Amino acid sequence: MATRVTKRKSSRRRGSRRVLNANKAAANGDDDNLEFSAAVNPEDTNNRDHKSSIPDVPAPKQTQDKLVERINALPLTEFIEHYIPQRARDFTISLPCAASNAETGGMDAETYSLDIQSSSSISKPDLEACFSLIRLTSSDAYKRSSMGWSPAKKKREMKLLDMRYLLLVRGDANGQCASAGSSLDANKPGQSEDGNNNKREIGGFLSFMVTYEDDIEVLYCYEIHLAPALQNRGLGKLMLGFFEDTGCSIGLKKGMLTVYKANEAAIRFYQRLGYEEDEYSPRPMKLRNGNVRDFDYMILSKELKETRDV
Ligand SMILES: CC(C)(COP(=O)(O)OP(=O)(O)OC[C@H]1O[C@@H](n2cnc3c(N)ncnc32)[C@H](O)[C@@H]1OP(=O)(O)O)[C@@H](O)C(=O)NCCC(=O)NCCS
Repeated sequence: MATRVTKRKSSRRRGSRRVLNANKAAANGDDDNLEFSAAVNPEDTNNRDHKSSIPDVPAPKQTQDKLVERINALPLTEFIEHYIPQRARDFTISLPCAASNAETGGMDAETYSLDIQSSSSISKPDLEACFSLIRLTSSDAYKRSSMGWSPAKKKREMKLLDMRYLLLVRGDANGQCASAGSSLDANKPGQSEDGNNNKREIGGFLSFMVTYEDDIEVLYCYEIHLAPALQNRGLGKLMLGFFEDTGCSIGLKKGMLTVYKANEAAIRFYQRLGYEEDEYSPRPMKLRNGNVRDFDYMILSKELKETRDV
């Protein structure tokens, strides 16, 4: 998932300035081991990576009658109760365990369920586990991109105040595992440990935000990452389905995300699930000197239809 780059209809050039800012951050030698900050308010002027902090972009009015602000003001428990579909809250899936199959030839199963958190409520170990998944699946793509890989920038984004998380947790939502072996053992990207040495494994996650894009209220998918052993098993489709159902139940008409053009596998996945290049996705620009400036990311979107079961 490419870091979200926001722009206005009338100002496509804003995207390129923000990419340059990101490059500068990457060049500053950010460290993978940087601590996560407290949840970051997008209105905070120190948070220069969010659109509302850019001086010439008017921040959305903070009125309680506006859908985006009203939803984001809800405590997590109320948000879950009212807007996360029941099938997501009850979600549990049993999958053949790749690790134990290889070792024993047996058919051990492992169970995954869904835990829903916000950037304020998510535990530090879980957030670190999510960050490790991003680094594992996508840091190379970031490094090759015009944005570069900036752990500090990514961690700031992950802590944006209105960010919410669907965490795919091995075992039940508390991390109690049914079997000893784990498909995640191969590279342990998503393991986290709390202060009591309780291990819980994050097999994947989807982060999202109720926000504005081009002045339209949307549900924005910031990240979706699965551990390699869990890819291509239908889980990405399920998680994106939960995301879309959440958007529908809130009353949002559009689901959006940003993806690197080089991530062809992800683009095919999104297209298979009905996402198309958004009308405001930046198109190649002819510069005054005749050169063409292209972008290495694109914005995809999908019209959110009637929810199934909230
Ligand atoms: C991208 C990702 C989330 C997809 O999740 P997934 O669980 O592997 O995908 P699913 O198994 O749910 O696939 C859903 C559908 O998309 C199709 N699909 C998935 N990957 C595909 C590909 N590379 N090419 C064509 N179709 C693909 C599947 O065939 C399936 O179609 P079906 O509904 O007809 O069966 C996951 O592979 C991943 O975490 N990748 C690494 C991180 C990443 O790139 N994230 C996206 C950043 S923008």
